[in-house]
Amino acid sequence: MRILGIETSCDETALAIADFSGSRTKPAIKIRSHIVSSQRDLHTKFGGVVPNLARREHEKNLAAILMRVLEESEILKPGTERTGQKTSRSKFAILDSILGREQELLRQFKESVVPSARPRIDAIAVTCGPGLAPALWVGVNFARALAYHWNKPLISVNHMAGHLYAATLQKNKAGVPTFAHSRVKFPVLALLVSGGHTELVLVQSRKKFIILGQTRDDAAGEAFDKVGRMLKLPYPGGPAISAMAETEVQNSEFSAKDGQIKFPRPMINAENYDFSFSGLKTSVLYFIRGIEKTHSIKKLRPAIAREFQNAVVDVLVAKTLRAAGEYQVRTILVGGGVAASECLRKTLRTRVAERLPNVPLLLADPTLSGDNGLMICLAAYFSGKKTTWRRAHVNANLRIDETT
Ligand code: KG4
Ligand code: ZN
Repeated sequence: MRILGIETSCDETALAIADFSGSRTKPAIKIRSHIVSSQRDLHTKFGGVVPNLARREHEKNLAAILMRVLEESEILKPGTERTGQKTSRSKFAILDSILGREQELLRQFKESVVPSARPRIDAIAVTCGPGLAPALWVGVNFARALAYHWNKPLISVNHMAGHLYAATLQKNKAGVPTFAHSRVKFPVLALLVSGGHTELVLVQSRKKFIILGQTRDDAAGEAFDKVGRMLKLPYPGGPAISAMAETEVQNSEFSAKDGQIKFPRPMINAENYDFSFSGLKTSVLYFIRGIEKTHSIKKLRPAIAREFQNAVVDVLVAKTLRAAGEYQVRTILVGGGVAASECLRKTLRTRVAERLPNVPLLLADPTLSGDNGLMICLAAYFSGKKTTWRRAHVNANLRIDETT
């Protein structure tokens, strides 16, 4: 089964084409193409993602990226790249209505997609939620137009399920992402940490997801981004804080190592699996306000970044371990943008090996932990919902337990 995956829920325009074979319990994958076009530079001057700007960028880029993934995939029969086939007026009228709100995309669609040959693809998968509604709609309408034009089934995908399945791919010795299904045994615990979500999900079977806990306010990635802004670091804050935490403390008066800067670990001991990072973010703000009159924040940044990062990681790791023990899970998966954090990866590896040595820990590869189209292909293959171009729609607040 060959799937085209389309992801536009936030600020990455991402498409991928992958071939699946084998069985669902012993699957194999061939990644034909995989392109992520980040809008990071555009949003950085606003300190975060501006939904309408994101929408416009997706609209500008989708058709061109599609043509690139099709080309890289080598799935157009040689010599049939451009068929010059005539498209009937009624067909155009339907495309006009599907992409009626995306005029620029419609123009490009008619210019590049319509005259091209129909590729050998079995289904088109698209993120329908959760995410930013204006951004999601562009991807969904594009997928609807393709499904209509190529007469192919449409699969609507939950973005968080995508992050979860991304962790089931692990690079082999040759550096090629390969399924690690022999190490994935139910019940599975998934820690999903992104810019919009932080949740612990118990996966009892391919069809049964239970959210054990989630954030009550800011997501972990969001907290990283906001603290990044406080420290005048570029957007997104996560990678910038990670890098800053690695640098030398430039002010010997303060070092996170000896506990001179101490931030809270919110809800670490609470009798539930919920998270809350807003109070932690406020503690950082008050600390900065209290100290900036007498100290250079720039010099203190490594120490603040380190202690903030440690606080987030401590809470994530403590709750993951507790849930894994209580539910006696047989595999732990970790996905979402924050899964790229080296501090989180290292701490989880150490603590899981100490406390749950028999439980495999699968961390999404840092190249696949952030938003990408391949994870949408994966989620479509394992848990997507078949729909049609007429019925596909967006649900910006879609929950992972509504997926199946
Ligand atoms: O999953 P993702 O790409 O997009 C959403 O679905 O939100 O996650 C983006 C988030 C951002 O908040 C970013 O700061 C965070 O992931 N992130 C990191 C790191 N790399 C990305 N957070 C901590 N450490 C990192 N190395
Ligand atoms: Zn994401």
